[in-house]
This record gives sequence, C-alpha cells and structure tokens, in this order.
Amino acid sequence: MDPLLLARLQFATTTSIHFLFVAVTLGLVTLLVGLQTAGYLTGKPVYERLTRFWGQLYVINYVLGIATGIVMEFQFGLNWSGLSRYVGNVFGAPLAIETLVAFFLESTFLGMWIFGWHRLRRGVHLALLWGVAITAYASAFWIMVANAWLQNPVGYEVRDGVAHLTDFGALLTNPTFGMAFGHVVSAGLVTGGLLMAAVSAWHLLRRTPDYALFRTSLRLGLVTAALSVSMLQGFGFAQFGPVAQLQPTKFGGGPDRDALVTDWTARFGPGDWEPPVLSNVGLGFMILIGFTLGAVWLLLPLLWRDWIIRLKVPLWLILLGLPLPFVAMLLGWIAREVGRQPWAAYGLLPTAQAVSPVSPGLMLTSLIGFSLLLGALAVTNWVLLARHAARGAHDPALGRPPAPDSDAHHQPVFV
Ligand code: HEM
Repeated sequence: MDPLLLARLQFATTTSIHFLFVAVTLGLVTLLVGLQTAGYLTGKPVYERLTRFWGQLYVINYVLGIATGIVMEFQFGLNWSGLSRYVGNVFGAPLAIETLVAFFLESTFLGMWIFGWHRLRRGVHLALLWGVAITAYASAFWIMVANAWLQNPVGYEVRDGVAHLTDFGALLTNPTFGMAFGHVVSAGLVTGGLLMAAVSAWHLLRRTPDYALFRTSLRLGLVTAALSVSMLQGFGFAQFGPVAQLQPTKFGGGPDRDALVTDWTARFGPGDWEPPVLSNVGLGFMILIGFTLGAVWLLLPLLWRDWIIRLKVPLWLILLGLPLPFVAMLLGWIAREVGRQPWAAYGLLPTAQAVSPVSPGLMLTSLIGFSLLLGALAVTNWVLLARHAARGAHDPALGRPPAPDSDAHHQPVFV
C-alpha cells in the first residue's frame, strides 16, 4: 500500500477522533463557567448542583481527550518528518505553545479545581475554573494559528531549503485564521449546548425527580445552542472570502485558479493540483447540517411552556439531533484539510514531500494500533459519559461535601 495514503488516513483518523473530544471540552467548560459564576453571584444551591453534575462529565471527557491529544503528537512525529524539517521553525512555535498551555497550565488548573471543592475559598475555586476555560480557548487559538499557517503560509522566508519565521504578527493576522477560529469555537459551543440540552431532555423524558434542575439546564443548553448556531453560520459564510482569494483551487476553484496551477506546474513540475472531490462533499453536507441545526431556534418555546416539555416530541428531537454537530465537525475538517490537498503547506510544501520515509508495513501497523487505541478511548468516553449522565444529579462524586466526621472535614481552608 501507498505509505502516503496510509499516513493521510492516520492523520484523518487521529485528528477527527481527537477533535470530537475538543469540541465537547470547549463547549462544556464555557457552560460550566457560566453555572459556577451564577452560583457564586447568587448563592443559589441549584447552580452548585449543576456545576458538580456537568463538571463530572467535563472531567471524564477532558481526561480521555488529553490522551487522544498525546496520540496526535506521536502521529505527527512518526509520519510527518518532512513537514517538521521544512516548516518546523515556523509551525513548531504555535504548536509548542499549544502543548504547554493545554497539557501543563490547563491540567494544573483543572486538577486544583477538582480537588479544591470545599477546601479553597469560593472565589479562588471559581478563578481556577476560569483559568481552565481561558487556557482551553488559548490552546484552540494556537492550534488554529498553526493550522491557518498550513492553509496560507505567511511571515516566513525560505533559507537553505527550510522555512524560517520572520514576522510573528503575520501568523496572528493570517486571513485564514480569524473566521476559522470563530467558526470552530462556535461549533464547540453548539456541541456543548446541544449535549447539555440532550442529557437534560433524557432526564425530563424519564420524569426525573430533579425536574426543575434539568429544566434549567435544558434551557441553558438550548439558548447556548441557538445563539452559537447563528454565530457558526456567520463565521462559516465569512470563511468563503479568504478561501476564494487565498486558496483558489479549493471548493471547485476561484478566479485565479488557472494562473496558480500554471505557476505551480512551472515550479514543481506537472501534477494533479486538484483537491479530491471529497472536500466539496464535506462542505455541502456540513452546510446542510448547519441549516438543520438552525431549527433549534424553533425549540426555544420550550423555555417558556411546561406543557410543551410534556408533549415529549421536542425532547426526542433534541436527542435525535445530538449526533449532528459531531458529524458536521468531521465534515468541516474534511472540507478544510482535504481541500488543501495536494499540499501540506499550501503552495509551499507538497504533502508527498512532507511524509516520513517509513515502510508501508510499519505505517499500516501504526495506523491500526492508533486507530484501535483512539477508538477504545472514544468508546470508553461515551460509555462513561452515558453512565454518569444517566445517574443524575442527585449526588455526583465531584465536589461531594466531606462527611461531618471525616478527616477532610477537620482540614483547614488553606487559601
Ligand atoms: C451554514 C452553515 C455552515 C457554513 C456556511 C460553513 C462554512 C465552512 C467553510 C467555508 C469551511 C471551510 C473553510 C476552509 O476550508 O478554510 C468550514 C469548515 C469547518 N466547519 Fe463549517 N460551515 C457551516 C456549518 C458547520 C457546522 C454545523 C459545524 C459543526 C457543528 C461546522 C464545523 C466546521 C469545522 C470544524 C470546520 C474546519 C475548521 C474551519 O475551517 O473552521 N460547520 N465551514
């Protein structure tokens, strides 16, 4: 088998599975910050119960998600040595910042938040969650800076056959960055909002004793999903401008396509400079889902009318709609990444030159190994999430107050 194809398949598998975790993390952490801040400001116990329940689901997803991130890094190192060599001086900086932010800062804040319940002052405990959220967004920011550079290399010069960074600011003002970052963040919020609404809908369908509590989270989830789906559509359409201007071969070709292909042929020799049609398929279905998800606005009457909640049909619709943002995100990445082909860095480094000189057998082995590992992590995540979500918000382990006679009860508040 062709090692290039195997490497690309491995990249697609690892990134896709990893991103499913990332979107839930980004969406849920934002909602958690809202819940805990509301609890802090109003002192109402309902917000603490919700924070503990949703926080537990967040922690499960985070822990397994970070393991998928480590597999991603391995995959990069193993399969894309040509990319590291050629653009590592540019691409390495944002990627390293992302890793430091995600693995060290964010995990440290999160660990202190998990174990700080009832031990730290409430304000300090809340600040830690804000820290987790800010670092999660910072990490998404830097990874999108890196990805935008591969879509449209800027702020560099090639010396001795290797790209060197000359203008750090250009990385941040890259036209393929801003709208894509907004689009990805909105996708995370839609996912988190819909996940919250769907779990709540499930409890309401089962006529849970915590009816009022899950009605509150249903409302919060739906409002978040509705507002962010509109942002998602806005940022999505805004991406077409930079794509047409800077990547004329993407999505069927822009006006400057022919001139660019002639230039590439002169510089790199004859070749197939068309991206696979799969990119357009991804784009089309993603947009279809984007419009379908817009219907969440129609479900907002649930907010005001209890009798509509009791009709059950809207609750089932929310449950059935839950896979949609996940599918759309995968389609979105297919559109963006397959649309960049045959380039690893658009117009600069062909994908065929970016791949490591690894034998097909070895590449196939790592593809199977990583796919099984990531598949197992994803399945474990969803089983654990479903199990803990189904248990309800009666008494989640996260943030459980210490029993009156336990040692923990006698420990001082140390901040
Ligand atoms: C009206 C609806 C939508 C429009 C117009 C739209 C537009 C786009 C465009 C043009 C791209 C490719 C950008 C590029 O190649 O540089 C893209 C990528 C992407 N889309 Fe969408 N999209 C929509 C809905 C959605 C939905 C519902 C989701 C997920 C919930 C989603 C998630 C993504 C992701 C993760 C990417 C890859 C990263 C990026 O380029 O932002 N999109 N979208």
